Amino acid sequence: MFVKVEKDYEEMSQRGAEIVAEVVRQKPNAVLGLATGSTPEGLYKCLIDLARKQNLDFSQVTTFNLDEYEGLPAGHPQSYHAFMWEHLFEGLGLREEQTNLLSGIAGDLASECVEYEEKIRRAGGIDIQVLGIGGDGHIAFCEPGSSLAGRTSVVALHPQTISDNARFFETEREVPRRALSMGIGTISEARTCLILAKGEGKADPWSGMIEGPVTSQCPASALQLHPWTIAISDTDAASKLKNLEYYQHVARERADQPVLPPWIVRPELDPRRQAERAIDTNA
Ligand code: F6R
Repeated sequence: MFVKVEKDYEEMSQRGAEIVAEVVRQKPNAVLGLATGSTPEGLYKCLIDLARKQNLDFSQVTTFNLDEYEGLPAGHPQSYHAFMWEHLFEGLGLREEQTNLLSGIAGDLASECVEYEEKIRRAGGIDIQVLGIGGDGHIAFCEPGSSLAGRTSVVALHPQTISDNARFFETEREVPRRALSMGIGTISEARTCLILAKGEGKADPWSGMIEGPVTSQCPASALQLHPWTIAISDTDAASKLKNLEYYQHVARERADQPVLPPWIVRPELDPRRQAERAIDTNA
């Protein structure tokens, strides 16, 4: 995991946007995995600015969002569909057919989840997955106790997540109790993961993710097993990291190294593929 600390939310967002922009520069038909919530709002704003200033072409990009509340139609102002159009898709001028979100009102939610996995596969897999972290260490809506190998499914939200997200609704009672969410297994297959955190409230789960044991009690800790996760936070979220000085040293030493893995454009270099091939060869 590459751990980077930026001085504030603005710098973190700018850095995150530059990384996503670089994926699209290297691979114009990239598949972007996206998150909602307050953390990536700044990244999306910076990405729209970058796209305009640098004339970046998003016309061949495909997007997949991590999750959606059960029961909220796409037009509901608190749906993640609405969030994405407001904060990113509109600004990048994306066409609806380029974007993919789970439907919280599908007649058969289990099939909706299976088909979503299939769509990701058909699109060639996710090149970069943008993530935020929950106060309880969740990623997407994979709450503590979720299988670290889980696939997209219908999940129950933790009471802390319900109360954390109540700020987006008129009352806490309006927050849906369940959601459809990519699983940790789904997320882990992305070629790159980019996880962001801001504020003191994230300091505990952030240190759990980076320095704690890999445990379903802190679902984000599964990213320790991912071959290329970039973890960027502001100084407040990094305030409980024990090895902060070391991460800063590594960041300085790596300053002239590519920020993205070579397997974004050369999938055969992905170490996970090499492991699969080794198993095939031995079989
Ligand atoms: C939403 C998502 C969630 C959020 C997390 C943090 O798509 O994936 O895991 O990233 O709940 O939310 P904020 O950024 O609002 O603190």
